[in-house]
Amino acid sequence: MNARMSRAIAVIGGTGPAGTGLALRWARAGETVIIGSRDAARAQQTAETISERAGANAQVSGMENSAACAATDLLVLTVPFEGQAALLKQLKPAIRPGSIVIDATVPLAASVGGRASRTIGVWQGSAAQQAAELVPKGFRRMCSTATATKTWIAT
Ligand SMILES: NC(=O)c1ccc[n+]([C@@H]2O[C@H](COP(=O)([O-])OP(=O)(O)OC[C@H]3O[C@@H](n4cnc5c(N)ncnc54)[C@H](OP(=O)(O)O)[C@@H]3O)[C@@H](O)[C@H]2O)c1
Repeated sequence: MNARMSRAIAVIGGTGPAGTGLALRWARAGETVIIGSRDAARAQQTAETISERAGANAQVSGMENSAACAATDLLVLTVPFEGQAALLKQLKPAIRPGSIVIDATVPLAASVGGRASRTIGVWQGSAAQQAAELVPKGFRRMCSTATATKTWIAT
């Protein structure tokens, strides 16, 4: 087994459509996936559903978000913008130094009562840049896939 295959991918907020969709595809591709949730039982239920769809060799487990962060150093954040900052503050002690954090959060206006078809401005520049301020120093990379034109990567 090579290094890439031995590193699990933890999908924080992986019980929603975005995280579940990513997790299913990674599981089908042979990656080890951890579904994270605020509720361990919900994470395990989602992991079972993904495993059934991904096939017999799928390696998918479910954990509460903090446990998922502690279990690997490759994290993908798929939570609504309105929950992003509070969740990262809560998870900060559990995030391993040197972790790779990939943030899919889109700052939809719906998070403040506006339209889901619009985004709102974030003081830091993007949801990923806001997240970068909230994770422990020493994280290795933060990416935003918010829109094709607003991709931001820092090392
Ligand atoms: N970049 C892209 O191309 C792209 C595409 C689609 C979506 N997105 C973004 O990806 C993110 C997830 O999308 P989604 O549709 O899957 O979202 P969602 O269904 O609203 O939420 C995903 C999960 O986040 C958790 N969650 C919900 N509210 C939370 C809160 N206040 N604090 C902490 N956790 C919370 C829930 O899991 P538990 O209750 O189990 O904890 C939920 O199942 C959003 O920011 C969305 O804008 C990006």
